[in-house]
Amino acid sequence: MYKAFFGLISNPFNLSPDPAFLYRSPHHEEALANLIYGVQSRKGFILLTGEVGTGKTTMLECLRDHLDSHRIPFAFIFNSRLTPEQFFEMIAYDLDLPCSRTSKTEVLFALNAMLLERANQNKTTVLMVDEGQNLSWDVLEEIRLLGNLENRRGKLLQIIISGQPELDDKLEQDDCRQLRQRIALRCRLRPFSAEETAEYVGSRLARSGMRDQSVFSPEVLLQIHRGTHGIPRLINSVCDNMLLTAFALESHVATLQMYDEVARDLRLVPAAAPQAG
Ligand SMILES: Nc1ncnc2c1ncn2[C@@H]1O[C@H](COP(=O)(O)OP(=O)(O)O)[C@@H](O)[C@H]1O
Ligand SMILES: [Mg+2]
Repeated sequence: MYKAFFGLISNPFNLSPDPAFLYRSPHHEEALANLIYGVQSRKGFILLTGEVGTGKTTMLECLRDHLDSHRIPFAFIFNSRLTPEQFFEMIAYDLDLPCSRTSKTEVLFALNAMLLERANQNKTTVLMVDEGQNLSWDVLEEIRLLGNLENRRGKLLQIIISGQPELDDKLEQDDCRQLRQRIALRCRLRPFSAEETAEYVGSRLARSGMRDQSVFSPEVLLQIHRGTHGIPRLINSVCDNMLLTAFALESHVATLQMYDEVARDLRLVPAAAPQAG
C-alpha cells in the first residue's frame, strides 16, 4: 500500500519467515551456524528455543535453504499437534518414502532402509520439527527412538526440534530424561538489543530498496525497541503500522506521536513511563 510512496520494491515488514530478509544478529548467526554444524557433523539431536517471534521458524527456513542447496533430504514437521500415526505419515510424505504412508510399520521400515542407504554413501538425512512445545509425549518418544538410529560414523538422522521456552521445561520432566540426555547441541534465540533493533529495521528497509533509511529517527527506533522488547515479530508489526500511518498523513518520516498511536492499537506494554492523557 505504502510501497510506492516510500520508493520500496517489496514489503519490508512482512510477517513471513523469509530467509531473504535475514538480519544476522550475533544470536541468529550463532544459532544458524550451530544448526548447520550439527547437521554436518551428525550430532543427532539439536534443540533450538526462543520466545514467540524471536526468529525460530526463520532459522529453520534458512537451514532448509542450506539443505536444499546441498541436496540433503529432510522432513519438516511444522504442525506439531500430531498423533504418532500422523507424524510418520508426514515424514513418509516429505521424504517420499516408497511405502504405505498410513502404516507406521511400513514407514519405519522404508525410513530405515533410506537412512542406511544414505549413510553407506556417507550422506545424511534431516528431520526438523517446529513448535516442539506442542508435541505429545507419544510423539516425543517416537522422535527419541528415531534419534537412536546410528552407525559407526554417527547418527543416521539429524533431528532439530525448535520451540518456545516451555519446550525446555517439558524436556526437564522425568518422562523426557532419555531424550534430554541425547541433546548434543542447544541454541537459544534472544530478543535484539537496542542497537540490533535499529540495525534490523535498517536492514529490512535496505532489502526492500531503501538504503540508509531516514524514516525512523534514532529516537523513534529507541522507542520501538522499548515497546517491543526487541522481539522481531513485534518490531515488524510496529514498523509496518507506522509506515502505513506516515503514508496516510503523507509524511516521509515516522514520528513519536505515530509510534504512540500504533503502540496503543497493538496494545504494547510500554516499557517507559506511562503516557500523559
Ligand atoms: N534474524 C532475523 N532476520 C530477519 N527477520 C527476522 C529475524 N528474526 C525474526 N525475524 C522476523 O520476525 C518474524 C517472526 O519470526 P519467526 O521466525 O516466525 O519467529 P518464531 O518462529 O520464533 O515465532 C518474521 O517476520 C521474521 O521474518
Ligand atoms: Mg515459529
